[in-house]
Amino acid sequence: MTQSAYRAKLLTFTGDPAQSSDAAVFDEDGVVIVEDGHVVASGAWSALKSRVSDGATVHDLRDKLIVPGFIDTHIHYPQTDMIASPAPGLLPWLDTYTFPTERGFENEAVAQDTARFFVDELLACGTTTALVYCTVHKQSADALFTASEAKNLRMVAGKVLMDRHCPEFLRDTPQTGYDDSAELIGRWHNRGRQMYALTPRFAPTSTEAQLEACGALAKAHADIFIQSHVAENPDEVKWVKELFPGHRSYLDVYDHYGLLRRRAVYGHCIWLDDEDRRRMADTGTVAAHCPTSNLFLGSGLFDFDKAGASSMPVTLATDVGGGTSFSMLQTMNEAHKVARMGGHHLTATRMFWLATAGAAQALDLADKIGTLAPGSEADFVVLDAQATPLLARRTARAESLEELLFALALLGDDRTVFETYAAGKRVHSRDGARR
Ligand code: GUN
Ligand code: ZN
Repeated sequence: MTQSAYRAKLLTFTGDPAQSSDAAVFDEDGVVIVEDGHVVASGAWSALKSRVSDGATVHDLRDKLIVPGFIDTHIHYPQTDMIASPAPGLLPWLDTYTFPTERGFENEAVAQDTARFFVDELLACGTTTALVYCTVHKQSADALFTASEAKNLRMVAGKVLMDRHCPEFLRDTPQTGYDDSAELIGRWHNRGRQMYALTPRFAPTSTEAQLEACGALAKAHADIFIQSHVAENPDEVKWVKELFPGHRSYLDVYDHYGLLRRRAVYGHCIWLDDEDRRRMADTGTVAAHCPTSNLFLGSGLFDFDKAGASSMPVTLATDVGGGTSFSMLQTMNEAHKVARMGGHHLTATRMFWLATAGAAQALDLADKIGTLAPGSEADFVVLDAQATPLLARRTARAESLEELLFALALLGDDRTVFETYAAGKRVHSRDGARR
């Protein structure tokens, strides 16, 4: 099998930088050696140059930085074309823009066209894995998986389930939601690099019967993902209290139906209490913090101190179209500011970990993605610290890895992504045409 080698500055991780000062591993002159879609070796060029085989192509990227592909743990592909639609809060935003837009995905051609654009946009931003919400229509999930499979991406996605409190044209039923999800699991889960996420939209749009059906599906498929929203907005939290009066909290509704576990990922997690956070930590349930969305919709400020104290798994996500950027760099920028508002200093090194190895670990995918470790699937991003004149001037003065990463996170966006690789193949080139 042909080998390729990428000589560049390298950043990878062996653990959480908040817990260990040597968790971030940086090579000023490094190399990633790739064969058959996997990383064979990565580390210092001086130590590994003898491992590069004679026939291998060596890509000279010494003025660039290679990091593992970014992982966005919460995003809605059908909302691509309605990004940047203002509303006075989550619930009016859903009614005014989201539901009418999602109706369009009953048309297969709309779903296919949007899915292809969406996947290219992720790759242009260096995101190689995402947890994706589709619409209630099962063909919307087929379209997303087909677009992802065409580029051999490790993608997680699912059809939304909703059987109440949304327009009639977007409703399934407990039975059809169950049947369609089961069919999609059978068709897509672990087919190549595709993985399925059971996707009840959020508690208000599912009846108890539908949540029960979700619990049954989750139980029957122990290794699928589960994704939903929780405690995003005070009006939503109040509504859930009225709809599910017997429960201790919003999170407890999901707990009751067996929907908290490893590989269960909940968007937002702003208005949780300490017992909720403890429950998430105990069950391995993952929080997807969506800073650009939370600021845009005025939902609230995620509490990094309380999340950290509880040890619940935390990841970063865009939540497009509630979020305002596909870029995980821009997401880091806003995450830093949200943390600052709570008096918490979120370092850039930790944000890069949260968006790569930390997310892979939280999602139970650490053996496959998130690092440049030998045996990993070769998903990585080539970042250009000279992408804009301002970034070039600022990074020229960086005196530490943290300073360099901080400038990339605060000033970076899709222009900073020079190339993106998935399973060892180049799937985006900034300076070339989209492929
Ligand atoms: N809660 C339920 N549906 C949605 C959605 O599409 N976006 C966001 N941000 N929150 C939700
Ligand atoms: Zn969302």
